[in-house]
Amino acid sequence: MTNQDKQEMVVTPWEVSGDIDYDKLIEQFGVQPMTTNLAERIAKHAGGMHLQLRRGVYISHRDLDWWLGEYEKGNKVGLYTGRGPSGHVHLGHLLPWFFCKYLQDAFGADLYFQMTDDEKFLHREDLTLEEAIRLTYDNSLDVIACGLRQEKTHIISDSDHISHIYKLGLKVAKRITFSTVKAVFGFNNSDNIGVIWHPALQAMVSFLQSDREGQNIPCLIPAAIDQDPYWRMTRDIAEKMGYYKPAQIHAKFLPGLAEGGKMSASQPETAIFTTDPPKVAAKKVMSAFTGGRDTVEEQRRLGGRPEKCNVYAYYYFLFEDDDEKLVDREMMCKNGSILCGECKKQLADRVKVFLTDFQAKREKAKDVLEDFLLKPVK
Ligand code: TRP
Repeated sequence: MTNQDKQEMVVTPWEVSGDIDYDKLIEQFGVQPMTTNLAERIAKHAGGMHLQLRRGVYISHRDLDWWLGEYEKGNKVGLYTGRGPSGHVHLGHLLPWFFCKYLQDAFGADLYFQMTDDEKFLHREDLTLEEAIRLTYDNSLDVIACGLRQEKTHIISDSDHISHIYKLGLKVAKRITFSTVKAVFGFNNSDNIGVIWHPALQAMVSFLQSDREGQNIPCLIPAAIDQDPYWRMTRDIAEKMGYYKPAQIHAKFLPGLAEGGKMSASQPETAIFTTDPPKVAAKKVMSAFTGGRDTVEEQRRLGGRPEKCNVYAYYYFLFEDDDEKLVDREMMCKNGSILCGECKKQLADRVKVFLTDFQAKREKAKDVLEDFLLKPVK
């Protein structure tokens, strides 16, 4: 690909497009690159290194060393992540939630999970508030199906649970000026006033556990890097409000099945949704973009290009936990001994098994959904 073919990178909380250059993002956002040492420290407490840590899904952080240090001193630590419920959940969304489950187990941490049905309603012309709230509960089934612990997970619907979060939200809002949100998010005079308020609610969850428990608890936010503007703003006000600055660990985007770009709910053929019938998902895999050559003869002679291949990326990020087997696959691809059709077929089979299992867990989650929702402080 020449430089001219590259598409300009756009990474905001509402749009991620173009060719993502993570080094540039790390520099632009002023965050710290992830290190092996930090990954090893997490692994030590977890009793093993998660696939996502081994494979470099987490590219950067802020204050992760401090958060780990607090835990190592024997202090309680907490986790916060969230989702804007605007449609079905796809595999790209699940990546950080699986990671939260691993961190929750490793650190015995509570996870506050925010469903920003308000944000999605305010930003989307076509989404009614009722539908956004319905999606909060629908998507919560996916969160629960990731295996999170009920006693330690608190799912928040901004709209339905507002009475438990409004007071802290107000205290945060009072600290944030209009010019700050304009500068951070690029809002302008034609934006509705709801979108201008919402950042206060997304920020406040960073302090929610501390507020509810009446003691300062270091908070770590695993999230894709596009959410970073929220945390920059939150960190600026934290200490003035008497809280710790929330730490972050930033994930890469999972590529879609088509060439280039991340998996996107607005292009359903490029994304595998947790609600896709397994056969439909398998078909999507079979028509995925690969790093293959134009003809079988060329592929046998020149080999495939795993570094360009989305199917390989799925093995890499989700579907091949065994490092040796992954290397074997890469070699077989490069030396032309496995062709794309076969490789896709094997992935499609794994996706089918995964979805069948996940969908059963999702069904079961319906019985316990209520128990996972944020409760008033006792
Ligand atoms: N704004 C996020 C979205 O649209 C949802 C969200 C709220 C979130 N709080 C979060 C994501 C914390 C990551 C971490 O998807």
